[in-house]
Amino acid sequence: KMNAFVSALMKKMTVDEKIGQLNLVTGGMAITGSVTNNGIADGVKKGSIGGIFGLYGTDNVRKMQEAAVKGTRLHIPLIFGLDVIHGHRTIFPIPLGMSATWDMAIIEHAAHIAAKEATAEGLNWVFSPMVDIARDARWGRISEGGGEDPYLGGKIAAAMIRGYQGTSMKNADAVMACVKHFALYGAAEAGREYNTVDMSKIAMYNYYLPPYKAALDAGAGSFMSSFNVVDGIPATTNKWLLTDLLRKQWGFNGFVVSDYTSLNETVNHGMGNLQEVSALALKAGLDMDMVGEGFLKTLKTSLKQGKVSQADIDLACRRVLEAKYKLGLFDNPYKSLDPQREKTEIMTDANRKAARVTAKHSFVLLKNANQILPLKKSGGSIALVGPLADNKRDMLGTWVIGGEWEKSVSVMEGIKHIVGNDVKINYAKGSNITDDTTFMKRLNFGPGMVSLDKQSPDDMIEDAVKAAKKSDIIVAVVGESQSMSGESSSRSDISIPESQQLMLKALAKLGKPIVIVLFNGRPLTLTWENEHAAAILDVWAPGTEAGNAIAEVLFGNYNPSGKLTATFPRSVGQIPVYYNHLNTGRPYSTGPTKFKSNYLDISNDPLYPFGYGLSYSNFTYSDLKLSKAKLKGNETLTATVTVTNNGPYAGEEVVQLYIGDPVASISRPVKELKGFRKISLQNGEKKEVSFPITTNQLKFYNSQLKYDWEPGEFVIQVGTNSADVKTAKVQWIK
Ligand code: IFM
Repeated sequence: KMNAFVSALMKKMTVDEKIGQLNLVTGGMAITGSVTNNGIADGVKKGSIGGIFGLYGTDNVRKMQEAAVKGTRLHIPLIFGLDVIHGHRTIFPIPLGMSATWDMAIIEHAAHIAAKEATAEGLNWVFSPMVDIARDARWGRISEGGGEDPYLGGKIAAAMIRGYQGTSMKNADAVMACVKHFALYGAAEAGREYNTVDMSKIAMYNYYLPPYKAALDAGAGSFMSSFNVVDGIPATTNKWLLTDLLRKQWGFNGFVVSDYTSLNETVNHGMGNLQEVSALALKAGLDMDMVGEGFLKTLKTSLKQGKVSQADIDLACRRVLEAKYKLGLFDNPYKSLDPQREKTEIMTDANRKAARVTAKHSFVLLKNANQILPLKKSGGSIALVGPLADNKRDMLGTWVIGGEWEKSVSVMEGIKHIVGNDVKINYAKGSNITDDTTFMKRLNFGPGMVSLDKQSPDDMIEDAVKAAKKSDIIVAVVGESQSMSGESSSRSDISIPESQQLMLKALAKLGKPIVIVLFNGRPLTLTWENEHAAAILDVWAPGTEAGNAIAEVLFGNYNPSGKLTATFPRSVGQIPVYYNHLNTGRPYSTGPTKFKSNYLDISNDPLYPFGYGLSYSNFTYSDLKLSKAKLKGNETLTATVTVTNNGPYAGEEVVQLYIGDPVASISRPVKELKGFRKISLQNGEKKEVSFPITTNQLKFYNSQLKYDWEPGEFVIQVGTNSADVKTAKVQWIK
């Protein structure tokens, strides 16, 4: 039906109208590049625009949709997109934080609420999920993804697609997802934004591509091409990537949009002039050009000169029209333009509650010496210090175009909501986010603008020390501000900024326990903090309900259960450091270090490994039991552990399954995540957790890029994090 409808429509279309469908413009504001599109309303009426992004609100969207539907010859509706990344108006934790929940139901629900709010303001397309695997915390966009693991990344990608697209994209509260950034964007050399990527096909297929494929298998309607090169060719003009892999090997039948001016940027990559790169991109499989107007300005000439064919243009146009069809826009172009929904479905109590639940599940307890947490809800006094303690602007994190920071809950407010006047709070800001004005200038983009306080840094520290002297315990809310992670926020030093470290060091001299509440859009280097703080609670950027969620955890209303999805290095010099690495020929374990694969000045181990996260309770694992020691072909192995909550609180634990494949035709990672279960245990309760394992979990891409398993010994590992597992071996023969 869709085919026939689109074919009939395309028969009536002129070349100009077809090229117009391939043009995506921004509604007036520059999102991340310097280019904006002018005269949008005229362009819509002329039929030279297929979609608009950055425009929302039912009135705004209706005006443009009417211009397209009533004002053009063929009444073709527009598609309306936006960077809805972790919520639209009600902001959820940044995606890296959300991934730390390891809870697919929570993640799916968060995406569903984002879709509901986005559609209530007339949007029907979101530029999410970002599923780029990242092993380098210097890269600021690690905050926007699900961390370093391909298996977990795939599960998260699928959950988000389900949440966004619902049971049918025709539903009034569903949006089309856009999987980004295809491909390998997270592997930018040296973690520097927009930098070169160079990777073997084995690494690509085994570690970086799986989440994109999982998103596709979950039914994702669109993909975005990335800024980087893949095998030497920019993704946006890469035929192998956009056609051979994505469509021919994987069977994708949606459309591909470029990133913001990424088509034009291939000129800088050395692919030719704008006309040449536009022709290359179209032939490579790019369907829609974001903002740069390369397609709009050059394709007709290229057609006349025989550089692209009518069939090339038709194919891209068909894919864009099919997307509009799948969204039900030809049936009802105004389907999500109900002003009533705009009033009743945004920032509701239920949405805020979901954001709070998601946030508290995303927090990772990195340290808790002598069970200093949870704090008492009455009696005593707390010094609440740090530039993020009484701060609303930095609660939301990166990419919050529809987010309203004024509506977020600060840590100070959240604490007051729980303890009222029962605990004395002595507040001092204590430091600027940073005192480095050059850094600050580069940082200042978006809502989390950073500025220097009127007070001198020394006076601010002095105030914090005074507050601490009057208090029993210090809660220091420190770390990265909103714009210190996200796009174009690479850092070569990933520690807490010096201004804040100086404050922490002055406080540490008092010998009072310090609880660090850590804001961060990436793994940070925290060796000093790990040594000197009594507790560290990593809260990422928690979103609208930040303060409430943090206070619930600090005061024990919720027992933290988040686990890291990206390794925390000891020093930036260890990067890239990730748990699923290969063995070297000279692995270092213990003993003399010379001529082993190690550093002279630091150990190989990270500070906190992948999968790590503490609880206020203590979970112990029994030995691992395997149902068989030897298996053949399609048999199923069952790996079982008993997990006990030794108290003193009820809590949740993410039980993780890893498999190692010590001998194979290619060198294989020392272990790979192959399953996980999040369980709840009452104080004193035990639960048996079993993982069924089949040869599907043993498969990998070999040097011929054939996906299969190879017989031999496998090391099955189950535990509380990637570095703390119970192990048993099994033989698996063909
Ligand atoms: O969706 C984003 C992308 O992630 C980075 N460049 C800009 C796009 C549109 O805002």
